[in-house]
Amino acid sequence: MPRVFSGIKPTGDMHLGNYVGAVGRWVEDQDRNDALFCVVDLHALTMPWDPAQLTARTREVATLLMAAGLDPDRCTLFVQSHVPEHSVLTWLLNNVATYGELRRMTQFKDKSATHESLSVGFFDYPVLMASDILLYDTDEVPVGDDQRQHVELTRDIAQRFNHRFGQTFVLPKATFPPAGARVMDLQNPTKKMSKSEDSPEGTVLVLDDPKVVAKKIKRAVTDSGSEVRYDPDEKPGVSNLLELHAALSGGTIAASEKEFAGLQYGALKSAVAEVTVEALRPVRERYAELSADPAELDRLLAIGAEKARSTAAPVLERAYRNAGLLMPAGLRRTG
Ligand code: TRP
Repeated sequence: MPRVFSGIKPTGDMHLGNYVGAVGRWVEDQDRNDALFCVVDLHALTMPWDPAQLTARTREVATLLMAAGLDPDRCTLFVQSHVPEHSVLTWLLNNVATYGELRRMTQFKDKSATHESLSVGFFDYPVLMASDILLYDTDEVPVGDDQRQHVELTRDIAQRFNHRFGQTFVLPKATFPPAGARVMDLQNPTKKMSKSEDSPEGTVLVLDDPKVVAKKIKRAVTDSGSEVRYDPDEKPGVSNLLELHAALSGGTIAASEKEFAGLQYGALKSAVAEVTVEALRPVRERYAELSADPAELDRLLAIGAEKARSTAAPVLERAYRNAGLLMPAGLRRTG
């Protein structure tokens, strides 16, 4: 079975775009693959953070992932900082990645244009991500399109390492959501749904009250004309609603288009509001249940970290040995 790895940052609230585009795919992936999913708290340190909020968000995201259907018995779900091998491999790979290639990363270029004092950690973000992926002999990395460049860099680093030190790392491949799994902002449907702070009305949060969910969808910006038709260029608002309807009702875009052909925008919005509220209801309920028992979350995350380490430690050892670092016997783990 292919090994799959993906990560989600514990920053910001989980929204419908994350749920449909990423987490929903992960839930499907967990049975078809040997899958690891990671709450990447170390990546959250690359921009200024509030410690108490980081702790709370880390728990919240881990709980939400389980509430959304990631089952700790069917996949490995863990918190990045619980597996110290991620930081250790990052240092090794820092000496294989080059300053020039990190400087060319879009994320760095964009942020450095507007931020005065970015941390070294921010600059190094892609190497930490490469370590996440390479530590598990990962075959596939399901990500959004914005992460394409990072996965390509991961391949470059792995290839360079293998070339210099002998076969060590598996070369991973990024996989992207199918068309229709990209949820756009409800107020600005040519832009991807993203942080709620940027667009509170255009972003549906997974934990929003059902009334709020319905309200946001009913107030979604639609397009001129009145015809319900799937046409992302000419009708981005309506097309986004059709995609959501298809994704959340488990059908195809063509089927949703047919269902609403000849009807008004209002009918489409009501239907999308209803399928969204119904899709999120079990997640909210399960979230409430799970968050009532934080000790159970800690227990499950400890098991996840132990499972992750049993895969990561031998890969780190391989990299150490091939790079010529002397492995002390005491650090060696079996697994
Ligand atoms: N950089 C990713 C994002 O911002 C999160 C991430 C960190 C990740 N490590 C990863 C994704 C490893 C896939 C694999 O969305």
